[in-house]
Amino acid sequence: MIFRADLLIASLSESPRTISSMYYYDDTGSALYERLCMEPSYYLFRDEREIIAENAKSIASITGKVSLIELGSGNAEKTTLLINGYIEAGGLNSYAAIDINRSMLEKAAENILSVTPNLEFTGIVGTYATGLEKAATLVGAKLLISLGSSVGNMYDDELHSLLGSVRSFMASGDYFLLGIDLDKESNILEAAYNNQSAILANLCVLQHLNWRFKGNFSLFQFRHVAFHNKKLYRMEGHLEAMQAQSINLEKLNFSFSLKKGEMIRTEIMRKVNLHAFHAMLFKYSLRPVQHWTDRNQRYAISLLQLSEKTTGSDCEASRCS
Ligand SMILES: C[S@@+](CC[C@H](N)C(=O)[O-])C[C@H]1O[C@@H](n2cnc3c(N)ncnc32)[C@H](O)[C@@H]1O
Repeated sequence: MIFRADLLIASLSESPRTISSMYYYDDTGSALYERLCMEPSYYLFRDEREIIAENAKSIASITGKVSLIELGSGNAEKTTLLINGYIEAGGLNSYAAIDINRSMLEKAAENILSVTPNLEFTGIVGTYATGLEKAATLVGAKLLISLGSSVGNMYDDELHSLLGSVRSFMASGDYFLLGIDLDKESNILEAAYNNQSAILANLCVLQHLNWRFKGNFSLFQFRHVAFHNKKLYRMEGHLEAMQAQSINLEKLNFSFSLKKGEMIRTEIMRKVNLHAFHAMLFKYSLRPVQHWTDRNQRYAISLLQLSEKTTGSDCEASRCS
């Protein structure tokens, strides 16, 4: 079960109410994410693409021939650039994409196979955790990848759980390529998450809940709010109720009331200090082999390997942002 009803009910019952960012990615939301990536103010996509385009071959030379496993592939557009680097450097064993959205996996297959028609492609519909369990049968050297600053959307417990799964999955000699957005001025961050595509994507989370759980959210009764929470090193996306209202999710047999002005938090986007982020990863036995930033130093990609020395997994990720 990808979209767990018990977790949604729990998160909508806490104060403040929250909705997992997974609900962004139904078909409409995924299309809006693709549109967001084209917004002039959404620098993340372009910066990450620039880093991959310039360094794909170097990454491939460091890791050697591997099987690639992507966590949250989306349409895998940037991954095709990485794969090009592997082709130039001598090849790739196979590519497996994990995503909760089946349509995105179909697009990923189309994009990847247009670059390398003979590459063995596996699409795994599932969460990061269930996907990694399925990919565990792969043999030989592996490169796990997570792009789009997807780990930035995770709360501490989710990040803790993902990094634990990644560490268990990796064998010595495997690599993990991780893209993450860096902390920066509020005006740049707030512009990236307050454009038309970001606003629509946020509101469409409610449409997703209406469809999946027979809900009665009226999108016109909510306002998109996104701001830089400097203290917690993150952007936050919220939906503010513009008037008092009662919400019913019929399939879940769950109702609740919202006061006028009440906010539901729909997403966090961590913005990290790279040095502190690497120190946090070290607690999960992951050490940076090399990292790259874009020319404006707004975004980073780190290539990680298991460290020999383990210092325990009890990291509070928020302290390390
Ligand atoms: C921020 S987008 C990044 C997409 C792509 N990697 C990129 O860089 O453009 C996150 C992707 O992860 C998927 N996703 C979100 N939460 C997930 C989860 N818990 N397990 C698996 N996939 C997830 C979404 O469907 C979406 O395609």
